[in-house]
Parts: sequence; structure tokens; C-alpha cells
Amino acid sequence: MPDIDLFTPVQIGPHTLNNRLVMAPLTRNRASREGVPGPLQVEYYRQRATAGLILSEATCISPEAVGYPFTPGIWNGLQVAGWAEVTAAVHDAGGKIFCQLWHVGRVSHPDLQPEGRLPVAPSAIAPAGEAITYEGMKPFVTPRALDGEELPGIVNAYRIAARNALSAGFDGVEVHAANGYLLDEFLRDGSNLRADAYGGAVDNRARLLLEVLDAVCGAWGASRVGVRLSPVQPFNDMRDSDPLATFTRVVERLNAYDLAYLHVTEMGRDAPGAAGPFFDPLDLRRVWNGVYMTNAGYDKARANAALAEGKADLVAFGVPFIANPDLPERYRRDAPLNPPDPATFYGGGEKGYTDYPFLG
Ligand code: PHB
Repeated sequence: MPDIDLFTPVQIGPHTLNNRLVMAPLTRNRASREGVPGPLQVEYYRQRATAGLILSEATCISPEAVGYPFTPGIWNGLQVAGWAEVTAAVHDAGGKIFCQLWHVGRVSHPDLQPEGRLPVAPSAIAPAGEAITYEGMKPFVTPRALDGEELPGIVNAYRIAARNALSAGFDGVEVHAANGYLLDEFLRDGSNLRADAYGGAVDNRARLLLEVLDAVCGAWGASRVGVRLSPVQPFNDMRDSDPLATFTRVVERLNAYDLAYLHVTEMGRDAPGAAGPFFDPLDLRRVWNGVYMTNAGYDKARANAALAEGKADLVAFGVPFIANPDLPERYRRDAPLNPPDPATFYGGGEKGYTDYPFLG
């Protein structure tokens, strides 16, 4: 069999991807204050449509899901209409785009919440650090622990957002269960001290994610649904006493769904032990029965090596896609890359967003 590389097509669910370069989900904080994507987002995603698959920036499922300024949502009609322009542009340019469904949980602030309420979480544990509000950085507050009776409402918000993503013309959805946001807060025992059916044993901590998946797969069919995990990511003050056991079990449970793919970011590997005892997230590849996407810090050579060695089937690129709208073509030709400008990653206008040059 010839070596698989970034340009070997791959099937995920009903979709044949032209290449294995995935545009990672990237928060860019340029939607309207009401969470509506506009013409600037249309242009940004259109420019990047040669990715085998685009994962949208994390997109809030409800007003309570919001944790950062100018992040898009998908809970109302204006937002759906905005996203419909984005998906149409990507499709016109020959691309495919999934919507990443997001609830930030405790990584929010009353300033960003409806009626100034407390953010919600599995347990009343404030993360160390500061929230980013419209008035600058403010210390995180202690979130309100969700009552068991409220959880069906959270699941329903995911269901509605998933249906909205379908209406908006996306090709699938990715359930964001990573990086210290709500579903990840349930998964890891540093943030989940619940004594009910959603805390304690890993099967309990995974319950909310699995209920969300049941709802989202009900709307989309499992073959157009992916999940993102971040087993060693300490970001947002996350940790787990046994990430190997926790995430092995989570992935075993996910195997029951026949999902489009599993997306595991390796973020946190450069801080071994920060999020709990070390393990290599790539080991989850052997537990998972389906298409496996890896992420974090890959370049062309490392990605091709990982694909050829069977360590992954897809590689998600973040920063390289910010700075290079035509990243696949640059990699194909071994062309030089534009340098990224970190000062314009979060917020602002077209500078550092839609003005990175294409190859001549
Ligand atoms: C961020 O806004 O910093 C952010 C959002 C989503 C992530 C990670 C980071 O998954």
C-alpha cells in the first residue's frame, strides 16, 4: 500500500475529504456582540475552503454558553442566517465545514451571562485565572453547580443548536468536550465533585457528554458528528487524577456511536504532569475504532510522518491556517509560509484575519 500523506483523500461518514488537512476550531472574537457572524466571517472561511475539512470556531449553543466577547452563537435565527452565508461560501469554493458546538461552563463571568447570573458548572469550583469580559479581565467567580434537574435543559440546548446547524447548511457538527469547557468539566475529576449520577466513576462523569451525543446524533446521524477531547490539557485550570483511565473509558464509550471521527488535541504535552499523571494522548488511537484526528503543533513533515505511521488519519492545523488561507497548496508545493501575527489572533477586524496573502 502506498504511504498515506496529507493529500490522500479520506472518507468521514458520508463525506469524502480531498485532503487530510483540517482547519482546527479557532476562536477569533470577530462576530457581532449578539453572536452573529457577518461578511468578514464569510470571507475568512471562504478563503480557507481548500482545507479537507473546516471546523468552525467554537460556537455557543445558548446565551448561558457564552464565555468570551464577540464569539458566535447558533441559538437564534439571526445567527443561523449569518452561518448560512458562511456555509454557502465554503460550499461554493468546494469546501466542507462542521460547526463546533460549545458551552463554556464555568469559563465565563456574570458580565457575559443573561441577567448577570453566575456561570454554571458541574461543581461550585472556580478555575484559577481571569475571565475576558467586554470591560477587560476580571477574576473568575465561583460558578453555580448545576442541579441534576437542569441537565435535560442543557442537553436540549445542544439538540436545538444541532438542529440549527443543520438549518444553517453545515456538513456536520463537532461536540466540543475539550479544553476545560462544560462537557470537559464533567469528564475530569478536578472540576467534577458531584455525588449524583453525573459524578464519581468515569461512566458517570461521561454521562452528560453521552446524553448530548444522543441528542446531537438524533438530529444529524452519528456519521456526521465528531467529538473533541483534550486529555492532557491544563488550560482553564483543568486536571484529572488519572487521565489514562478516564479518557480510555470515555473513548471506549464513544466507540458505541460510529461517529464521523474522534478529535484529540495533544495540547498540554509540553507541560507534562500539569493536568495529571502523564500519558501520551496518541495512545487513545489504539482504543478508538474509527477515524482519528490529532492536533497541536504539527507541521507538514510531522503530519505526514504521523499519517504514514498510522498514528492518525487527519491532522488539524490551527496557527498555520490563521496565517495561510491556502495552506494545503503551500504544503503541496513546499512553498514558504506567511508568519502569523499573534497580536491579531483575538478580536479586531480584517487585519490579521482576511488579509494574509495567498501564493502569487
Ligand atoms: C479561547 O477562546 O481561548 C479558546 C476557545 C476554545 C478553545 C480553546 C480556547 O477550545
